Amino acid sequence: MLLRPIRPGAAQELSDGFAKLSAHSRRMRFFTTRQVYRPQELRHLVECDGVRVLTLVGVFLNVDGSEREAVAAAHFFREDPASDSADVAIAVLDDYSRLGIGSALMHALAECALAVGIVRLTGLCHPENLAVQRLLQGMGRYRVIGVKDATLEFSVQLENVAY
Ligand SMILES: CC(C)(COP(=O)(O)OP(=O)(O)OC[C@H]1O[C@@H](n2cnc3c(N)ncnc32)[C@H](O)[C@@H]1OP(=O)(O)O)[C@@H](O)C(=O)NCCC(=O)NCCS
Repeated sequence: MLLRPIRPGAAQELSDGFAKLSAHSRRMRFFTTRQVYRPQELRHLVECDGVRVLTLVGVFLNVDGSEREAVAAAHFFREDPASDSADVAIAVLDDYSRLGIGSALMHALAECALAVGIVRLTGLCHPENLAVQRLLQGMGRYRVIGVKDATLEFSVQLENVAY
């Protein structure tokens, strides 16, 4: 598997991946079962500068090294590039869950985040989403910092993450 930044112009690829998520996974990721990304979200996710926004994808390779299928995506976003904190989100296609792909992608994202001065990842998480809570607990000091509209607000301190 190759973990790499998303390519500019890969909006359709991301959209196709979204459509492959189960209704349950879409609810866990977006808190709704809607079936498409909004155009503004897509633009935002593919126009990465690696400092303010970064989207990494996990891609299975063929034996000849060519790319076969993108099965996971994770991104960080911070409004203010001077902030040491960024929001994160991740999704792995259902057929490939519980294989360690989410952890590998999130650790790669954390490594990129640390390299540009981000030491804390924040986000929203469905209270029933044990998978992402477990994943985040393996990343560093995970804390629930609040509850907003029946979703958990989390924070993960990355300073002591070992890769
Ligand atoms: C959350 C998600 C990214 C996890 O990806 P993954 O590739 O399955 O995760 P991993 O295989 O790396 O497992 C990470 C940890 O979560 C645990 N885990 C995974 N799925 C789980 C589940 N359904 N229930 C409980 N724990 C689970 C694993 O056992 C592992 O824990 P461990 O390291 O202590 O053994 C994936 O389930 C997903 O895309 N869900 C839908 C979208 C979503 O919820 N996104 C998060 C919102 S930001």
